[in-house]
Amino acid sequence: MDARVKPDLTFDLGAWSAGHLDQVERALDRWVRASAPVNVEHEAPAALIEAMRYAVLDGGKRLRPLLVMAACEAVTGERAEAPDSLRCEAALRAACAVELIHAYSLVHDDMPCMDNDVLRRGKPTVHVQFGEAGALLAGDALQALAFELLTPDDDMPAEQQARLCRLLARAAGSAGMAGGQAIDLASVGVALTESQLRQMHRLKTGALLQASVMMGAAFADISTQAQRALQSYGAAIGLAFQVVDDILDVTADSATLGKTAGKDASQDKPTYVSVLGLDRSVAYAQELLAQALLALQQSGLRDTQALEGLANMVVNRVS
Ligand code: IPE
Ligand code: IPE
Ligand code: MG
Ligand code: MG
Ligand code: MG
Repeated sequence: MDARVKPDLTFDLGAWSAGHLDQVERALDRWVRASAPVNVEHEAPAALIEAMRYAVLDGGKRLRPLLVMAACEAVTGERAEAPDSLRCEAALRAACAVELIHAYSLVHDDMPCMDNDVLRRGKPTVHVQFGEAGALLAGDALQALAFELLTPDDDMPAEQQARLCRLLARAAGSAGMAGGQAIDLASVGVALTESQLRQMHRLKTGALLQASVMMGAAFADISTQAQRALQSYGAAIGLAFQVVDDILDVTADSATLGKTAGKDASQDKPTYVSVLGLDRSVAYAQELLAQALLALQQSGLRDTQALEGLANMVVNRVS
C-alpha cells in the first residue's frame, strides 16, 4: 500500500521548515557572492556584493522559498531535501531566485523615494548603510542574479529554465510587484475602494507569493484541476499576506517586526486597516485562509501538509 495515501497526522511544520530553511540559508550564502574574480584595480564591485549580501543574508522569514519547496513536494510527492537529486537542486535555485527578487523589492521599497524606512529585518536599511546609489544598485544586481540562478549551464532543461524565468519575470514586473508598487506610490492620501485596494495588494505582494507556488508546481506535470487549485491557493495566501502585513503595521511593535511599525498611517497609505477597519481586516484574512485551505482540498494532491501549514503561518503570524 502506498504510504502517502494516508494523511500524515504527524506532520510538524516547525521541523519541516527548519530543514528547508537551513538549505535555503546555505544556498543563498553560496550564491550571493562574486561569480567572477572581482577586478583588483577597483573595489567598488566588492562593495556592491557586500550590500547585496547585507540585504539578503541573516534575516527574513523566507516564506517565498518555503512555498516554492512545499509546492514542489506537493506535486512530486518527493521531499525537496534529498541532497543529490537534480530536481532538488533546481527547486532550490527557484526558491532562492524568488527570495532575491523579494529582497531587491524590500531594498527599493525602503528607499527615501519610496517608503523612506530606516529599519529592515532588525538592521539599518540598505540605503542607510550603503547610501542611496548603493541600495539602488544592490537591488538591480539582486534582480539580475535571480535570473542568473534560474539559467545554469547544465542540469536544468532549457524548457524548465524558460518556464521558471517567465513566471518570475511576470510576477516581478509591471503586471506584478513593480506595477503594484507604482499603484501604492500613486495612492498616498487617496481613498481607494476595496476593490482597488485588493488589486494593488494582489500585484505588489500577491503576485510574487502566487508565483512561488506556481514555480514549485512547475516541477511536475499536474492536472488542470491541480493547477487551478494551486493558483487559487497562491492568490488567497498572497492577498492574505499583505492584509496581515497591514494589520501588523498597526498592532505589532517595531522590535517584533524588525521594521518600523505604524508607518502606513503616518505616510497616509491606503491599507486594509484604513479601508475596512481592524476587525473586518482580521476576519477577511481568516476568510482568505479558509479559501486557501479549500483550494488545497480541491487540488486532488496528497502531499499538501506543508502548503497547509504555511497558509496558517501567513495568516496567524506575529511578525
Ligand atoms: C515584507 O515581506 C514586505 C511585504 C511584501 C509585505 P516579509 O514579511 O515576507 O519580509 P521578510 O522577508 O520576512 O523580511
Ligand atoms: C511592500 O509593501 C511590498 C513590496 C513589494 C516590497 P510594504 O511597504 O507594506 O512592505 P513593508 O511593510 O515595508 O515591509
Ligand atoms: Mg511600500
Ligand atoms: Mg514599506
Ligand atoms: Mg507594510
